[in-house]
Amino acid sequence: MTPAAAPDAPLLQVGAITKTFGGFTALDNISVDIRKGERFGLIGPNGSGKTTLINCISGALRPQVGSVVFCGEDITQLPPHLRARRGIARSFQIPRPFKSMTVLENLMVGLDFAKVDSSQPEEDVAMSILTRMGLASKASASTDTLSQVELRKMELARAMAVRPKLLISDEAMAGLSSSEVDEVLDLLISLGEEDITIIMIEHIMQAVMRFSERVMCLDAGKIIALGAPAEVMGNKRVQEAYLGT
Ligand SMILES: Nc1ncnc2c1ncn2[C@@H]1O[C@H](COP(=O)(O)OP(=O)(O)O)[C@@H](O)[C@H]1O
Ligand SMILES: [Mg+2]
Repeated sequence: MTPAAAPDAPLLQVGAITKTFGGFTALDNISVDIRKGERFGLIGPNGSGKTTLINCISGALRPQVGSVVFCGEDITQLPPHLRARRGIARSFQIPRPFKSMTVLENLMVGLDFAKVDSSQPEEDVAMSILTRMGLASKASASTDTLSQVELRKMELARAMAVRPKLLISDEAMAGLSSSEVDEVLDLLISLGEEDITIIMIEHIMQAVMRFSERVMCLDAGKIIALGAPAEVMGNKRVQEAYLGT
């Protein structure tokens, strides 16, 4: 039986993770707790370890040292698909739709992957997610006809199809105009209001500031700041490392 988490236990506990590639330390003793429903921003310069940390959480990579505890269960050794079934979903830096399929079919693949139990037919579930994402009118469109912002939304919809407790968004805004960034941000914030916990990796500082309740900044695999957005942006080490000022 899976141990039940205490009501006020964090949703995700990253415990002293170290990840090395050969002789190179990509993550050095990273610990952080993320509470249920939190909107958490993850920042840091290129190569600072953000995606590696996300990979250790989603299961694409396993750390050499440390643990990942989700809903009170140690998932450090679980493969990605079993973590997905427990409620961890990620949307990728580069949208990877199945190109020959329609938007609706893409979503249904996600539902199959998660083996979501539902009394509703899969197609209805997929349609309700598309409606939620403002993509209902594109359901039968082939994915290669989608605009950049529509692709980003579809990628989020695919992540939502697994009914995540934790949604990880890795640079979902890259390449979007500022009004499109606001659109995706509004979507992410509204998901946060439904008690979905969200970790957002983003280079666009205004988006991070607006979105996040807390921000963590990595530099060279170490946490250099963790706190309220304004506090982290005002941190001298963050400005030196990240903003280059
Ligand atoms: N699979 C891998 N093999 C070797 N080195 C890697 C691998 N993945 C990431 N790295 C290295 O780890 C560091 C952190 O990378 P990454 O987590 O992608 O950074 P970020 O997402 O913050 O830009 C980089 O120096 C990168 O080259
Ligand atoms: Mg990255």
